[in-house]
Amino acid sequence: MSKIEPLSVELKQAFIHLIAKRTGLAMREREQVNLNEKIFLRMKILKISSPGNYYQLLEGNRKDSQQEWQQLVLMLTNLESYFFRDKEQFKLLRNNILPELIQRHHNDKTIRICSAGCSTGEEPYSLAILLKELIQDLEQWHLIIVGIDINQEALKKAETGIYRPWSFRGLDTETKQRYFRVIDNQYHLEQQIKQMVKFKTVNLVDDSFPRGNSELRNFDLIICRNVFIYFESLAISKVLEKFYCFLQPSGYLLTGHTELYNQNLSKFKATIFPESIAYQRHITDANDLSLSEITSRHNYTSLDDFPLEFNSNNLDKLNIQMQRVAINLLGQLPPDTRIYKLGNLTAAELITKIKIALREIDQETK
Ligand SMILES: C[S@@+](CC[C@H](N)C(=O)[O-])C[C@H]1O[C@@H](n2cnc3c(N)ncnc32)[C@H](O)[C@@H]1O
Repeated sequence: MSKIEPLSVELKQAFIHLIAKRTGLAMREREQVNLNEKIFLRMKILKISSPGNYYQLLEGNRKDSQQEWQQLVLMLTNLESYFFRDKEQFKLLRNNILPELIQRHHNDKTIRICSAGCSTGEEPYSLAILLKELIQDLEQWHLIIVGIDINQEALKKAETGIYRPWSFRGLDTETKQRYFRVIDNQYHLEQQIKQMVKFKTVNLVDDSFPRGNSELRNFDLIICRNVFIYFESLAISKVLEKFYCFLQPSGYLLTGHTELYNQNLSKFKATIFPESIAYQRHITDANDLSLSEITSRHNYTSLDDFPLEFNSNNLDKLNIQMQRVAINLLGQLPPDTRIYKLGNLTAAELITKIKIALREIDQETK
């Protein structure tokens, strides 16, 4: 079996469907190009001669099927990550969210954080560094920071706490020097920070999650960034349901900026900070997300006075970010909602206008 033969259209679709169902991963056109190759490579290793038989192996629920999924996901997942990725969200964590959690847990001195889709660990370790910098009497605290991911190889690497310079893109030299020791051009994370984070193999969409994972609950913060961009929409809703249940009342969920576009977020309370939207589990379970609720709280930005810009000439860097937050916020409204103070345009019309302006800027800066 030396030659890679194209899969039949039906079988290819069946693989794509099965992968989405089992992992949440959407095989977009770009990924589909290599899917054939990946399947045939696995077949070669397993000495399976027909793609149909390989499909049956994956479809099963036996131990060998599960083991094969672990191998296949190594080829399907994108592990891109680096320390303090998305500076603005880390600024929000440092200045608002983490200080609030520290204050909230002043008495029980316990904070529970989950980095979901943590890849090689840069994200949960960045959170550990922030907490170390924010908490004076760290040894008095019980901090639970768990990094979870479907990719076991990524987690093995995360556990070593050893990184290449590429994991520090844009990070200031001072933080790097303070928490890492350089040996042979590799950066070794300080032991104290390493010990603050635990890792666990978890498939977010699998029904067994959270069964048998009772420690993966009651989080004060779940951060799940650059994971849903690879997911199909149904899988995102399924995982969002789970996240909601795993959060403590008032616990925060942070995702990448546009990753929840078109999702039903009515269960969550959306808090709009200039840097990003953060979603919270309600204090009570009254799951209404009303716009007045969003806008009335201190610290929230009202949609009415949100600096919406439709003219690409006016958009500076900060504004661009605000427009992305605005798109996310508007996306939570029924598309035909008219916004009186914004020319009585509908939410859908406003989104289109902002998107056009942002696209123009994108083209100008290319
Ligand atoms: C691009 S990385 C994001 C890493 C980090 N969150 C960041 O923003 O830098 C995406 C991660 O999601 C993980 N992932 C994909 N599907 C998953 C699933 N079903 N369950 C858990 N993790 C998954 C991948 O293995 C990968 O490590």
